Amino acid sequence: MANVVLLGVQWGDEGKGKVVDLLTERADAVVRFQGGHNAGHTLVIEGVKTVLHLIPSGAMREGIECLIGNGVVVDLQHLIREIDDLKKRDIDISERLIISLGCPLILPYHVVLDGVRDKARGKSAIGTTGRGIGPCYEDKVARRGLRVADLLDERIFSGKLEQVMEYHNFMISNYYHSDPVDYENTLEAMLRVREAVLPMMGDVSARLDSLCQSGKSVIFEGAQGMMLDIDHGTYPYVTSSNTVSAAASSGSGVGMTQVGNVIGVIKAYTTRVGSGPFPTELTDHYGEHLARQGNEFGATTGRPRRCGWLDIVALRRAVQVCGINALCVTKLDVLDGLDTIKLCVGYTFNGKQVDLPLYDAESLEQCEPVYEEVPGWDTPTAGTRDYSEIPEPAVSYLNRVAELLERPVTIISTGAGREETIVLEHPLGAG
Ligand code: GDP
Ligand code: IMO
Ligand code: MG
Repeated sequence: MANVVLLGVQWGDEGKGKVVDLLTERADAVVRFQGGHNAGHTLVIEGVKTVLHLIPSGAMREGIECLIGNGVVVDLQHLIREIDDLKKRDIDISERLIISLGCPLILPYHVVLDGVRDKARGKSAIGTTGRGIGPCYEDKVARRGLRVADLLDERIFSGKLEQVMEYHNFMISNYYHSDPVDYENTLEAMLRVREAVLPMMGDVSARLDSLCQSGKSVIFEGAQGMMLDIDHGTYPYVTSSNTVSAAASSGSGVGMTQVGNVIGVIKAYTTRVGSGPFPTELTDHYGEHLARQGNEFGATTGRPRRCGWLDIVALRRAVQVCGINALCVTKLDVLDGLDTIKLCVGYTFNGKQVDLPLYDAESLEQCEPVYEEVPGWDTPTAGTRDYSEIPEPAVSYLNRVAELLERPVTIISTGAGREETIVLEHPLGAG
């Protein structure tokens, strides 16, 4: 059976969770491979909304294994809360969840550091989710971080924690002039969650290998979006992990040849939460329409999302870097009722046409979008499940996106609900 990588290829919140949940109808397992609980993936099933942050979007279908790969930074206290919230709704995920022993642990001092660092940036603050993601990845790369495997032995864990906290508390107190984090409290809290987590810790790489060997289908679920990638995104206004397709392999411990096709999920327009360049951002009534109709508020922080037209230039980079095979377009319904729609097909920078996003934020900030204008539509697409019912101007819009990106649109989402989707070609085959 096939595997598939599903990635957001804008600045996040493209509707990845909804699509992953839908595709689990033909999958055996879902694995997260990067990011942490900065993600917020919304699933709406039979009118009931669930927002998952750390647990893979296979949670809502019984029998689907949910794996958290080594590339994910894990806040265990948050994870336990998320598991408990599902339990209250009779969804017991603990029996089918494996957390990689290689996952870096987000600890309370990472959260403090995230806050004081972004505040210290002043006007150039990134506007992080404040969940300790960046500082945790820093510790991983600096080779001083604690990992899930360190919890196997209480004594080893407490020793390493004391050492690393001494270092971070020095920085917090003396450089940022903030209150240090208490070691005893941190240790006690971690030892409390340890008991609950021990049975779920495992070798995700080995499990994935065994699933692939036995012909099972795995969905690799991306978090954030391609333009938030630490290397290829709008640095430094990015998250601290690689969000590109290659991370599916390194962040879960499977070979590149196993990961399968790559589906790029794009909103029919663009949104961004937090700071950073956004060439197609709208502050007029079109922007208001997108924010209102799309209910554009962050699923993790509740912040209003900035809205703009679809940016083909940014998407060209995503297609190139992620090796995208096909596209899934979500929130088509949000464009319903607009008289006209614009597609950004290039930028101008210093009087010259640019076809790909520039790597430095300062120059990207100065790029002006070059638009192609297409007609909008009055017949609503909201909730449509049948391709033949999509009005002709909306079909033309989708065709133009496919043409510009030289990739087919194989999935179209017309509403938040699981069923409000048109699957023209299922990435996991005929089923
Ligand atoms: P993710 O982070 O990529 O999983 O996306 P989020 O859950 O953060 O944000 C997507 C939002 O759009 C959520 O509120 C979804 O319920 C909603 N959504 C997803 N697909 C559609 C769609 O096709 N139409 C509409 N109107 N809403 C959608
Ligand atoms: P999902 O998976 C949208 C943004 C933050 C901030 C930047 C860095 O739901 O699409 P971080 O806390 O990661 O250090 O913040 O990245 N960001 C997201 N924006 N969707 C997300 O996740 C995001 N995760 C992080 O707003 O600009
Ligand atoms: Mg989200």
